[in-house]
Amino acid sequence: MNFTTFLQGNIFFGKGYLSKIIEISKHLGKITLIVTGKKSTKESGALSNLIDYLKDVGVNFVVFDKVEPNPDVNIVEEGGKVFLENSCESIIAIGGGSSIDAAKGIGVYASYKEIIPFLLGEKALDKKIPPLIAIPTTSGTGSEVTKYTIITYKERKLAIASPLITPNFAILDPDLTLSMTQNIVRDTGVDALSHALEGLFSLGANPISDLFGYEAIKIIYKYLPRSFAKKDDYEARESMHLASLFAGIQISQSGTGIVHGMGYPLTVKYGFPHGFSNGVLMPYVFKFELPAQYEKMSIITNILGFGTGNLYEDAEKFIEILLDFYKILGFPKNLKELKVKEEDLEIFAEEVSKNERLKRISPRITTYEDILFIYKNAYFGVL
Ligand SMILES: [Fe+2]
Repeated sequence: MNFTTFLQGNIFFGKGYLSKIIEISKHLGKITLIVTGKKSTKESGALSNLIDYLKDVGVNFVVFDKVEPNPDVNIVEEGGKVFLENSCESIIAIGGGSSIDAAKGIGVYASYKEIIPFLLGEKALDKKIPPLIAIPTTSGTGSEVTKYTIITYKERKLAIASPLITPNFAILDPDLTLSMTQNIVRDTGVDALSHALEGLFSLGANPISDLFGYEAIKIIYKYLPRSFAKKDDYEARESMHLASLFAGIQISQSGTGIVHGMGYPLTVKYGFPHGFSNGVLMPYVFKFELPAQYEKMSIITNILGFGTGNLYEDAEKFIEILLDFYKILGFPKNLKELKVKEEDLEIFAEEVSKNERLKRISPRITTYEDILFIYKNAYFGVL
């Protein structure tokens, strides 16, 4: 067994830990750029609490609050210009995965005065972006500890993957997740599940990333239904925040896979939330990957307490467990139900099949025909 792994970033996890920003304020410089969305951190009071802490320690700030779900490159460039115009020295991202991803992109722009060549893979990062503190208010993205940012450019979701954009500090305060709506709990929670599962099945997985993956699955299976059902179940919200963190640490090493690749066009074209798109596709992708990953699928079935002792049967059972889990969350069964147009599937398959990074870590060789086959199965609900 050979593997190389690299764990980085400081992590603070705990109730009321938003206040940890005070402890690390010396890393912020004289003025910091706060990157957040338009509404939720204002309505929940998270943003004003953060600002109060910054005032206490005498750190000046500029608020850039224009981030929308699936951040577009224009917004990232705009945020980067605000950073430069105000001579900011650090970035604090507070919000969902989109705010954290946008902040990473803003950090790239602040360092290079451009970002598009990095998204297109024409240039590679060679220096660390300004100090970045990530404070997630949803539980799923894991972006607070990952080396990835996903930015939309010309209706395509493009990634930058580099340890140079991993946040220096992640502050995970479960109190900040209590205001999540039921749909956000479900969609972000299923995103975390997709990270844990895809991370396990990826050819980039290693024994350390697997540890985080199996643990994340156990926690999500137990606590996502509770977090979904009740807003004030602190233990469930706290546990889901932990699972999201674990899966984030995991995918920073293992990468994700075809589920993410196939989910992106659905999000861009139809506006489905990221985790929701992944969730609909997962059973169909995993059914396709089953012959290559039946041992790990069988382990999951056993970890969740449904093992029969037969390896292949247990692997098949894993798909059933996933579908049963979806029933609790009220998840749709297929793309047709979601009014996706069948003729779009060929265009999506064409786009996904060009993604060499995904193909490299996919457990089965995945051609254009394979991807179209999976999309069609997901469309008609064929397993
Ligand atoms: Fe994701």
